Amino acid sequence: MSLWRATVLTLFPEMFPGPLGISLAGKALGPVWSLDAQDIRAHATDRHRTVDDTPAGGGPGMVMKADIIARALDAVPDDGRPRLVMTPRGTPLRQSRVIELAAGSGVVVLCGRFEGIDQRVIEARGLEEVSIGDYVLSGGEIAALTLLDACVRLLPGVMGKPDSAAEESFSGGLLEYPQYTRPAEFEGRPIPAVLTSGDHKKIAEWRQNEAERLTRERRPDLWAGRPAPTKMPPKT
Ligand code: ADE
Repeated sequence: MSLWRATVLTLFPEMFPGPLGISLAGKALGPVWSLDAQDIRAHATDRHRTVDDTPAGGGPGMVMKADIIARALDAVPDDGRPRLVMTPRGTPLRQSRVIELAAGSGVVVLCGRFEGIDQRVIEARGLEEVSIGDYVLSGGEIAALTLLDACVRLLPGVMGKPDSAAEESFSGGLLEYPQYTRPAEFEGRPIPAVLTSGDHKKIAEWRQNEAERLTRERRPDLWAGRPAPTKMPPKT
């Protein structure tokens, strides 16, 4: 199998692979996936290596220049990988999109800094604008690391047990049920008795009920949009 390829365009290539260089993602970096962090500043042309300018219409901060970003993007050969730009204005990232991206050949990810990127280059190059949540980071790099982590852990051969990716939060449109391990009692709190009963049908039922209860209580948005159950309800 060919590698899943990530190309990141950033003003701070030294931020990569960062946390993705350790643990499971780090072990798989090389054998399963590749990471190429390209310095946007290499495409600046003036003596000061300028990559940004003041916002049209005034206001605080600086805007990354369309021509520089276009050159950085155009220097990545188009092999059909999706081209993303990390921005708090983007479409919120969901597990369904992560699964699609992980199933493809990789991604090209542009990281913004300053007040943003000239919108014309985002449109001209047809970039997919992606947000990792409703808060503002100081740049797209940590957002890109987050997106890559979510993708890489799904690649075949990265996670120890293939099942644990399918069972966890969001894959079934529900939050994950709570987990416990020894000791049997912690500060007066026992492990729920059903989990140590050995009754696998009861355990599965309890976990499903807990997943549904937690989703209803904590994420009414997910609960309202959850997929219809796939299994027939038990006959009564
Ligand atoms: N850059 C700054 N904040 C961001 C966010 N929430 N998501 C994606 N990119 C960002």
